[in-house]
Amino acid sequence: MASSRRNDESRRDFLEQIGLGAGAISLLGAGLVSFARNASAQACAPPGNPGTPQAWRRDNRPIRQRKAASTLSSAEVQKLRDAYKAMRDLSSSDPSDPRGFTHQANVHCWNCGGVGSVIQVHGSWQFFAWHRAYLYFHERILGKLIGDMSFRLPYWDWDAPDHRKLPPAYATPGDASNPLWNGTRDMDANDEVPDDDVGEDVMDAALTASDFDDFGGTASSMGIPEGAPHGSVHVDVGGDMGAFGTAGKDPIFYAHHSNIDRLWSDWNLGSSTHDNPTSSLFLNLRFNFYDENKKWRSIRARNVLDHERKLRYQYPAPTEGGVMERLLEWTQVQPPRPVQRRMEIGAPLRDQLARALASNAEIRIHFDGIQVPVDKSAVYSVYADLQEAEAARGAASPAFLGTVPVVLNDKDNRHPTRPERRAVFRVTKRLRQLLERQAPLEFSLVERGARGEKGRVLPLRARAVRFSVAQVE
Ligand code: C2O
Repeated sequence: MASSRRNDESRRDFLEQIGLGAGAISLLGAGLVSFARNASAQACAPPGNPGTPQAWRRDNRPIRQRKAASTLSSAEVQKLRDAYKAMRDLSSSDPSDPRGFTHQANVHCWNCGGVGSVIQVHGSWQFFAWHRAYLYFHERILGKLIGDMSFRLPYWDWDAPDHRKLPPAYATPGDASNPLWNGTRDMDANDEVPDDDVGEDVMDAALTASDFDDFGGTASSMGIPEGAPHGSVHVDVGGDMGAFGTAGKDPIFYAHHSNIDRLWSDWNLGSSTHDNPTSSLFLNLRFNFYDENKKWRSIRARNVLDHERKLRYQYPAPTEGGVMERLLEWTQVQPPRPVQRRMEIGAPLRDQLARALASNAEIRIHFDGIQVPVDKSAVYSVYADLQEAEAARGAASPAFLGTVPVVLNDKDNRHPTRPERRAVFRVTKRLRQLLERQAPLEFSLVERGARGEKGRVLPLRARAVRFSVAQVE
């Protein structure tokens, strides 16, 4: 009968989710089977009956620093481990407690449209605000579980060239005795996030985004850093991190997002024009979470904008060097136009770009609506020349522009991600060589495999491409 077949299927789904194969089904009693049916229908829904949330209440704790994960003292590492250990233990001692690690991970799954959910916080201006709120409640729960509300999450500063490896506390020991470890990662203790994904060019493109539309997105489009560096690091770490539905199961997720949150904070500080949206549509966005006392709370986007005063944590001041560049004013040198792989550079544009180069300007290329394959989580390198794309030399190639990541919502691709991405690349250093060739630019995407090897080569299609320049004083 149809209904009993459906039950068998959902039971099988559930068993696969908890890591038992089909062979285990017959060993299980009827009690677990009916639990399994519910669990399968709403695999990552919030536990209990949350009901109507109570408003988040003003936080009066002392303001404390979030620190770089690799600079924690051994006492601080121990505290971090104790907190995640307690959170993991809670999942087994009381599976219904929303503060347990499995439920904490499921919060992310549920909010990226997991089975039965209609919420999707990725791909729009919800991204930065929602993740800030998520980390805030998660951090408070960790603090409560170790009886120390001054606990703050660390951040993984992969943007620092000597911190491209997983922070040691999260990677070693590489076994279940370490509550910060996750056995599904593609990256091991000695691997590094590639410079192409998180290097200076990528960080500068993010930090010099001139308005929030570019930096954090709009109601319907994603901001630039949500792609690279954010998505790239998900793909690079891989395993659970490689899909939004499972990413929260890896403790490194929270340190990664703390760094993404720091990027938002630094962008705000970088210029007096780097404002957050003021529309009430944005300010009144409401996000719901269980707090450290298992109370279902609702917090608005407007409450998370000033993390220091409202949420009681701060980051070290951004380093001097970067600040000047963040004050740049960008002007568009040509109206945006669609591109189907080839872009002719006519004489007027060539002259404009050449003049900008001669006057020492910073030059960027912007792509809106890049069509990307969405069959797997992957990072694509963008080249402005087909032969160079075939050769796939990465940053060593004068035609290499940067990378565009795709992170699936779930590994089995059951709820598809949107097939369009935005990207901004700094081309100042490479443009001279590209212009000298006097040939049309032939944009291509090259899939980068898990160990950096070359995958598919595809023509790049985008809704719009344009250049912008900024005079450097
Ligand atoms: Cu909600 Cu890094 O993803």
